[in-house]
Formats: sequence, C-alpha cells, structure tokens
Amino acid sequence: MNESSGALDKGAAGGIDLSRIRTIDGVDVDGKRVLVRVDFNVPIEGGAVADATRITRVLPTIAKLAGQGAKVVVLSHLGRPKGVPTPETSLRPVAAKMQELLPGTNVHFIPTSIGDEAKRGIDALKPGDVAVLENLRYHKGEENNDKDFAKALAALGDIYVNDAFSSAHRAHASVEAIVDLLPAYAGLLMMAEITALSRALEMPERPVMAIVGGAKVSTKIEALTNLVTRMDQLVVGGGMATTFLLAQGKEVGTSLCEPDFVATAKEIKALADRSGCEIVLPIDEVVAMKLEENAESWICPVDEVPADAMILDAGPQSLANLKRRLAGVRTVLWNGPLGAFETKPFGEGTLALAREVARLTREGRLLSVAGGGDTVRALNDAGVAADITYVSTAGGAFLEWLGGHDLPAVLALSRSGARAACG
Ligand code: 3PG
Ligand code: MG
Repeated sequence: MNESSGALDKGAAGGIDLSRIRTIDGVDVDGKRVLVRVDFNVPIEGGAVADATRITRVLPTIAKLAGQGAKVVVLSHLGRPKGVPTPETSLRPVAAKMQELLPGTNVHFIPTSIGDEAKRGIDALKPGDVAVLENLRYHKGEENNDKDFAKALAALGDIYVNDAFSSAHRAHASVEAIVDLLPAYAGLLMMAEITALSRALEMPERPVMAIVGGAKVSTKIEALTNLVTRMDQLVVGGGMATTFLLAQGKEVGTSLCEPDFVATAKEIKALADRSGCEIVLPIDEVVAMKLEENAESWICPVDEVPADAMILDAGPQSLANLKRRLAGVRTVLWNGPLGAFETKPFGEGTLALAREVARLTREGRLLSVAGGGDTVRALNDAGVAADITYVSTAGGAFLEWLGGHDLPAVLALSRSGARAACG
C-alpha cells in the first residue's frame, strides 16, 4: 500500500500535513468491501435528481474501485433530516441516477444504513457491484460524530475511502469517527479538491487575487480576514461590497447591507493595509428602485447612488477595472456573485466576469479556482465552467478552507495516514 500521495507539500493547509493523506492508488481492493463516503447532497425535484454534478464528479473513484473488483458501498447524507426519515431526503432517487450514469455496473439501493439488513445487502454484492445505503442523517449518531454509529458503519466494510470534500467541514461520524476504525484513504475527487485549493490558496503563483461576492459580510468574515493576509488583491463584490462602501461613508440607498458589520469591514480593510493586500471595491453600479425581473435600471458611480435606489450589480467601469486587474494576475480564487445574479438583468456583471476569467484561463494566462453553489451556477449559466482550471463541488467546505480552517475530515485522513506510516 502507498504511504502518501506525494502530490502535496507538507503543511499546505494550515496545521494539516496533507502529504500524510493516503490515496487509493495501489490499494488492493479486490473482493473487499469498500465504504466510499461521497457527498450526494444534491437537489431533488419531483422525486428525481435535478443536478447530478456531485454524482458525476465521484464516478471516477467509484468506477476505479469497482473495476478493481471491490464491492463498493456508497455512504452519504442528503438534506438535513435530523434523525427523522422523510420521503424528500431518501437516497433512492440518487441510486437510480447513479445506475443511469453507470450502465455497465449493478447499482443497488439498500433502504437502511446500518445493521443486519444493510449487512445482508452488502454480503449479496459481487465484486464490481455498487450499493448505495440510505441517508446517514436518518441516524442522530451521524451528526453527533457518535463512536457507536461509526462502529456500526465500519462493521459493513474492510476499507474506507472519503471522496466527500464538500462535507469535509463537518465533524460527523462517517467522515471523522470512522476514520479511526478502518484503513482510510482519500478518493480521487477529494485529492483533486485539496490539491487545487492548496495550489491556489497556500502556494499560488503570484500575483494572486481573490474575488469574494455574495450577499453578506457576516457569513464570510473569516474567509475575508484570512484572504487579506494571503492575497495580493481582494475584490469584494455583491451585497457585501455595499457594507464596505458604507464603511467609507458612502450613500448606499436601500441596498442590501449590514450596518452592524461596518466595524468588521473597517477591521478587514485595516488588516489588508497592514498585509499589503489591496481591497478592490466597485467604481460604478447598476441600480434600480426594486429587485424585480426586468425592473428599470440605470448605471451610476458609487458616489451618486440615490437614497431611494438599490445597488443590484457591478457597473461597466467596475467590470473594466476587474478585467484590467485580472490581466495582471496569475491566480484567481472566486466565491460569490457580483450582484443579484438570479434576477435579470442583474446577473450581467457576474456573467461577464465569468466569461473573462474563463477566457484568460483558456489562453493559459490564469489559473482559476471557483467554488460555491451560486458561483458554479453563474459559470454554468455563462457556459464556461469547463474553461475554469478547477471548479470545486464544495460550498461550505470551500469557504471554511478559504477561512484558513483545518477541515475535520481532511485532518482525520492525515492523522490516519500518519498512524499507518508509523506502523
Ligand atoms: C453541502 O451541501 O455543502 C454539504 O453537503 C454539507 O451539507 P450541510 O450544510 O447540510 O452539512
Ligand atoms: Mg450547505
């Protein structure tokens, strides 16, 4: 078995020794029961999977293990059922989708996640078969990181693989406690995510820029605070830019903003100044009287926002400024839209930014890493997701990583690898 991935430098993510994480390359899985934790927390509409991205992204791991003769047992959560089964949170439709995506493989659904019924279902698998267990969060032990629940899961497998980077910020039984009970490895998607994120955040080719948008400063304080100590430029966009503009004493009209976080915005600015990071705010904005589909809108400089209007998107000068700056950086990390991008025409700024980041990446001038549900939607809407160097499947975990936090599941994998290396 392999000792370490060798793909990552030591200490790339805060206090975690990523080089200790063992990958599935070279692991003998033939005939073995391999528990694979994935994040199938996917949107379900009308009883079917509405977006299969998180499923398709783990198929290489599943196919590799199945191809090597493993009995693959897929573990996941879906939604937040809090210990109570509900029809909307069942993984049954996800198993059906997986079968559709893996036509040459037998994909079974087992309507429970621990105990005799699960064990019988797994015992019936042939090498190369896949079984999807029911939602782990039907058991309170999952979110409580309960040792007994982890033991009940571990009893179903011989080897454990975590391919759920987007759940790595949760210290839950299936990503944390279980790691101490079985030989534990990172799946291909997990490795791709941590490699891409460390490359952009911990050891980027400079100059490096982060673009952080979205509604609220309050939800991204730690990410902003950490980023200003690491980036050369931090572009603040979307609703949270409004709070920074307010901190400069500007009129922001009826825009979404958080007056209670003006002091925080000032602290972040002061830290940026001390760290040599330039905070880039909008120069002009698209404003309207209300946030409504096709509402009448106009462009105005940030100093001239009327008291009864609201800021809903970045204006053309702001975008020109971003494009000029993007042309001068080598690495960009992006999380969060520049405006109310789901309401037409206020997504234009975000879409234009997506196209520009994609163009520069395509031309080999930029390494780009993007994450978060809204950002990925914007990249898809702009039709350019495939051009971005790396698109993360993670939302919350991506933000935690940007915030400089050690993710419990990644830490657990590293700890397990370190232990294995000591024999
Ligand atoms: C996600 O979708 O971000 C992960 O699956 C985590 O889900 P949670 O926020 O319900 O823990
Ligand atoms: Mg979430």
